[in-house]
Amino acid sequence: MNYRHGFHVGNHGDVLKHAALLYCIERLKLKKTPFAVLDTHAGAGLYDLSGPQAQRSPEWQGGIGRIWDWNAAPPLVASYLEAVRAFNPDGTLGVYPGSPALAARALRAHDTLIAVEKHPEEAALLRESLAGFDHVRLHMRDAWEALPALLPPREKRGLVLIDPPYEQPDELEVAARALGPALKRFGHGVYLWWRPLKSASALGAADAEARTQGARETLRADLWIDTPQPEGRLVGSSLLLINPPFGLEAALREALPPLAQKLAAGAAGWRVSSSQA
Ligand SMILES: C[S@@+](CC[C@H](N)C(=O)[O-])C[C@H]1O[C@@H](n2cnc3c(N)ncnc32)[C@H](O)[C@@H]1O
Repeated sequence: MNYRHGFHVGNHGDVLKHAALLYCIERLKLKKTPFAVLDTHAGAGLYDLSGPQAQRSPEWQGGIGRIWDWNAAPPLVASYLEAVRAFNPDGTLGVYPGSPALAARALRAHDTLIAVEKHPEEAALLRESLAGFDHVRLHMRDAWEALPALLPPREKRGLVLIDPPYEQPDELEVAARALGPALKRFGHGVYLWWRPLKSASALGAADAEARTQGARETLRADLWIDTPQPEGRLVGSSLLLINPPFGLEAALREALPPLAQKLAAGAAGWRVSSSQA
């Protein structure tokens, strides 16, 4: 396990993932009953953009850095920017909140964040990052073992974020196959699965496997800032949502065209598609 999210934090992939995550949480909050967010690959929680990792690989400059001052952002992006700004009260972008920090802040007192992180150093940082939130349960354990074990959540409603580092060549298949047992236990949950956009055929196979594993209603959203390549620098990412909340597809269709333009480093683009089996 060599991956450290600090090197990639705030990049185009984080922008897409975190904007969609916050939208889903806001939709879940429309009902008064409590819900849980299970973040299977949580990372460190908070990232200092002047720290050594973000300085050595300042991917955030091509992501959140490009839209930080976007005043007329579409609502999906505006809500995300507002959430990131809350972690930077002096108005200067210095700290980037990862998924567990964004979720912990967005949840209500009676909702729960269950954050899983296997790497001991990242897990220790995560504990520090989330120290101010009391509706959080942290697990230092393996995501693939924890995913079915922690489902369904006590609240019987909620969202599962699956965001592996894709260090292993088979991690896309591993994640797709993990959906089956998870969906058997928590079939009506919202699932948000982040994938790198490198090989169109590998992603097509992952989508097909997700359907085989029981994903019936899906929404896929891709965003790329330059022409995706099978090898080398990551320039695009793809979200697969299972049981997406109402309104997300329209919000993505509105937000992705101007967002792709803002983040473009070359031939940027976007795609949104939904399917129901
Ligand atoms: C892409 S990062 C997560 C970023 C985070 N979800 C966010 O959006 O801010 C992936 C994380 O998964 C952790 N990880 C890798 N393999 C894992 C496993 N098998 N179980 C749990 N965590 C794992 C890594 O240490 C890393 O912190």
